[in-house]
Amino acid sequence: MTMLFTLSKLDLRRLLCLLLMVTGVKLTRNTYREELLLLVSFDGFRWDYLERDLTPTLNDLAKHGSRGGYIINPFATKTLPSHFTTVTGLYEESHGLVGTKMYDPVLNETFHRNNTSIEWWSQTGQEPIWITNQRQGGSSAVIEYPGMDVSFGGMRPDYEYSHFSYSVPFDKRSDFAVSLLANGSINFAAIYFHEPDLTGHQHGPDSFEMNDTLKLCDNTVKHLMKELKKVNLLHEVNIIFTSDHGMISVDKSRTIYAENYLNDTIYPHFTTEDNPVLSIWPRKGKFGTIYCH
Ligand SMILES: *[C@@H]1O[C@H](CO)[C@@H](O)[C@H](O)[C@H]1NC(C)=O
Ligand SMILES: *[C@@H]1O[C@H](CO)[C@@H](O)[C@H](O)[C@H]1NC(C)=O
Ligand SMILES: *[C@@H]1O[C@H](CO)[C@@H](O)[C@H](O)[C@H]1NC(C)=O
Ligand SMILES: *[C@@H]1O[C@H](CO)[C@@H](O)[C@H](O)[C@H]1NC(C)=O
Ligand SMILES: *[C@@H]1O[C@H](CO)[C@@H](O)[C@H](O)[C@H]1NC(C)=O
Ligand SMILES: *[C@@H]1O[C@H](CO)[C@@H](O)[C@H](O)[C@H]1NC(C)=O
Ligand SMILES: [Zn+2]
Repeated sequence: MTMLFTLSKLDLRRLLCLLLMVTGVKLTRNTYREELLLLVSFDGFRWDYLERDLTPTLNDLAKHGSRGGYIINPFATKTLPSHFTTVTGLYEESHGLVGTKMYDPVLNETFHRNNTSIEWWSQTGQEPIWITNQRQGGSSAVIEYPGMDVSFGGMRPDYEYSHFSYSVPFDKRSDFAVSLLANGSINFAAIYFHEPDLTGHQHGPDSFEMNDTLKLCDNTVKHLMKELKKVNLLHEVNIIFTSDHGMISVDKSRTIYAENYLNDTIYPHFTTEDNPVLSIWPRKGKFGTIYCH
């Protein structure tokens, strides 16, 4: 029943679009009301965290909505590169952000995650979906999502929430999105939560702390659904819950200190940070030396 109703509403809208086009009336933002989308990312939410029986809300949504069997995260499995893949539809080698800290031989500069210079973020002219949405007449809110503070072709998100602090409750981020959806200001919002990644890095994916954090994530979802219900949007909004990569415990005895093997005479640029991937730029003529080490 609901399905049929939705379809006919859509058809009506198409007809309306056609009529408006014919009469040359510009579509207003409210016309997009039926196509509300929330993109929600929980950083480092490993695929099997849902199997721990600690996330009833998410499990319930998966059961009554649809759940992908899996996602294949892009390479490298880093937060910023992977999140940018989600909103551009491009592999990292195509959008250019292959690291959080990386050297670019063309620019001869090193990128830091906080650099909002467009040279880094739109090397092949790409833009994130919140900008595309705005260019097509929609309106977007971006809430702590990587890349939100970059200007693409002179455009920033219509609404931004960047009060990043570990002490600001997650619910504030959801509330901001819901209030904008409720008063018709936006048709799309991207929300980023830095958990359970942070707990995973600090305590490991198999820790007590991780179990607590998974409950926190689920409560965040529960609150979001409750607020959407309050403003009668629960059945109007499409919501995607996703993540950027997983996480696994590694035995410390398997650590290799790259700095013991790499030095400036051969590799002027290498990034180690907390990367799952090490990138090395050898000096001219020193490429073969890599294989000696
Ligand atoms: C790259 O920049 C460094 C300084 O940051 C400079 O010493 C070097 O000469 C530059 N390399 C090229 C090829 O321009
Ligand atoms: C970005 O971070 C780097 C390294 O932490 C710092 O040197 C630089 O000043 C920062 N840039 C901005 C614009 O905050
Ligand atoms: C950001 O990147 C641009 C382009 O490489 C560079 O010119 C600028 O100095 C960088 N800004 C910071 C704060 O590092
Ligand atoms: C909608 O709500 C947001 C967030 O509370 C507020 O910033 C904005 O001004 C409101 N817009 C309208 C049209 O009421
Ligand atoms: C975390 O929760 C799972 C499932 O409820 C349980 O099997 C596991 O023992 C818990 N881990 C810790 C460290 O408490
Ligand atoms: C750098 O590495 C090269 C090759 O392993 C070695 O010959 C050289 O002594 C090293 N230099 C320093 C300063 O460690
Ligand atoms: Zn991440």
